[in-house]
This record gives sequence, C-alpha cells and structure tokens, in this order.
Amino acid sequence: MIKNDKILSNIIAGQAVHKFYGGVVPELASRAHQQQIVPVVDSALKKAGITPDQLTGIAYTQGPGLLGSLLVGSSFAKAMGMALNIPIFPIHHMRAHVLAHFIADSGMRTPPFPFICLTVSGGHTQLLRVSDPQSFEILGETTDDAAGEAFDKAARLLNLPYPGGPEIDKLAAKGNPQKFTFTKPKVPGLNFSFSGLKTGFRNFVMNNQQKNPDFISENLPDLCASLQNTILEMLMENLKRAAKQTGIRHIALAGGVSANSGLRAMLEKEALASGWETYVPPLAYCTDNGAMIAIAGYFAMLAGDAGTQADAARARWKIG
Ligand code: KG4
Ligand code: ZN
Repeated sequence: MIKNDKILSNIIAGQAVHKFYGGVVPELASRAHQQQIVPVVDSALKKAGITPDQLTGIAYTQGPGLLGSLLVGSSFAKAMGMALNIPIFPIHHMRAHVLAHFIADSGMRTPPFPFICLTVSGGHTQLLRVSDPQSFEILGETTDDAAGEAFDKAARLLNLPYPGGPEIDKLAAKGNPQKFTFTKPKVPGLNFSFSGLKTGFRNFVMNNQQKNPDFISENLPDLCASLQNTILEMLMENLKRAAKQTGIRHIALAGGVSANSGLRAMLEKEALASGWETYVPPLAYCTDNGAMIAIAGYFAMLAGDAGTQADAARARWKIG
C-alpha cells in the first residue's frame, strides 16, 4: 500500500511449497496466489490503517511471469477496481524492479536521470538506460538464461535448497573464488549468455563426482565462490562497458540477484576505481515485493497511464 511515494505497508506471502520441490511449480504457484491474495490485501490495508473506499487506484503485475499467477493478480485487481470504481494500472515486472529505487524510504539513495540499471532476477538479466520513470532502453540482455537461473540451477546440482542464489552467496563468502575456473562465453554487444556456464558447471561437477563421490561436499564453498565469481565477472564486464559507452556514471542495481553480497562488493570496488555513483536498494526491495509494483503504479498514475480491461488482457510486456 502506497501514499504518493511513501510505503504504508509491504506484505509478502512466502510460497514455502517451492522449497519442497526445489523450484517453482507453476500450478502450485497459481494455487498459492489464489489462496493468499485476499488475506494479503486484507493485511496490507490493516497495516496501512486505511479502508478500501480510501483507495484511488490499484496497480498489479501484468507480466512477464507465470501466467497462472499473473491471472490471479490481474483478475483480482480488475474486480476490485470495478467494485470500487477506481482505475487499475497494469505494471511491467522489470520496470517495477527499477522503479523500486524511487520509494521514499530512509534506506534509499535515489538515482538521478539518466542512469544505468543492471536488472538481474530469476527470469531476466538486462542492462537498461533509464531516462525517466517511463523511458527504459535495453542496452543489453541475456540471450538465453537469466543470472538468477544460473545461481538456482547450480545450487540444485549442489543439493542446496531453493532459491539457490542466497545459499550460494552465503557459502561463497567462505570459499576461494579462484579455485576453479569456468569458461565465459563470447556474446556480441552488451548481451549476456548463461546457459553455457550452466552446462559447463554441471559437466565439471559430474565428471569430478565420478572420480570422487565426495567432490561436492569436500569443495562446496570453493565451488560456490568460483561459480559466483564467474557470474559476477560476466555481469560487471558488461556493466563497465555500458558505463563507458554511454558516459553515464550513475549506476544502479535491481532485481533479486542484486541482493548478492559479492555483486554489491564488486560494484563498490568498481565505483571507487571508475568514479561511479552507485544505487542499490535495501534487501527488502531487491527480491520480488509489492512495494515496487505500488511505486510503479504511482508513476503510471502521474503519467495518466491507467489500464483498460483490454490492456489488462493484452500481453504488453516490452520494457522499452
Ligand atoms: O526478482 P526476483 O525476486 O524474482 C524474479 O523476478 O525472478 O529474483 C529471484 C532470483 C532467484 O534466482 C534468486 O536465487 C536470486 O534472485 N537471488 C540471489 C540472491 N537473493 C536472491 N542471487 C544471488 N545472491 C543472492 N543473495
Ligand atoms: Zn522479480
């Protein structure tokens, strides 16, 4: 729940069921959304101390994401908007990650326009030039898997719980990032590719396991540190090139992987070397959260960008 750019409540319902299966099962995710949407909206209103008749608009995630879960949110928003006779605002999930930087919160440093945002999540890896709250230009993006997916798949191979990113992050802090090296792909422009690394890592681990069944347990922190270091170097190399090519020195991180402590440390190191000003949201606004959808809704409202019923049904998922 948001009042202008101030968050009044930010309720997140965890979906513990995915831990059990080691990943997101789409059907279970949409069922969990169905079960949780009413209690979540209820407690968001209660915590904010407002009643539904005081609402002036409803923002919801239009996409990209899992269709079943998106449908639960969009149907709920449409119904509630119609019942209260207030506008609804379809929001692009990745735009919302970036706009989380504009939440008025004591822990926030808000980037000035234009800035570059490295947006890294479980489904996306993008380098964006952000010129105003509605203008996003993709400078580069992944041609296959996302960085978060590489973390999650590698973690699964190492028998770590889902989501794997935070687990690898923790273990990497105790390991040697130079112990193992993995081949980085050559990708044109400012684009990324993580599927080769994923396969290379799998082959490396499995070959070693054949020779030594305890290979994973004997090398876990070093495997995590070396894999994480490779992923982060790939991200940082393109980020540095993007900053150089555009001449922009205001650099932001967004998305679930921006919670990674190694990435935050590398960014700060590079900021000192290159004279960047950096912007990283508090952890609660990095991984998926309702507040980022609300702030994006606030900007959509300012821009008069209300969605119609037809908009809500249309797949309008291009970020630019
Ligand atoms: O943005 P997000 O919460 O959901 C999507 O939109 O996908 O991002 C989730 C991704 C997962 O792949 C998760 O493993 C990763 O963010 N992640 C991390 C960390 N925390 C979350 N990856 C690396 N280090 C972390 N600390
Ligand atoms: Zn996300």
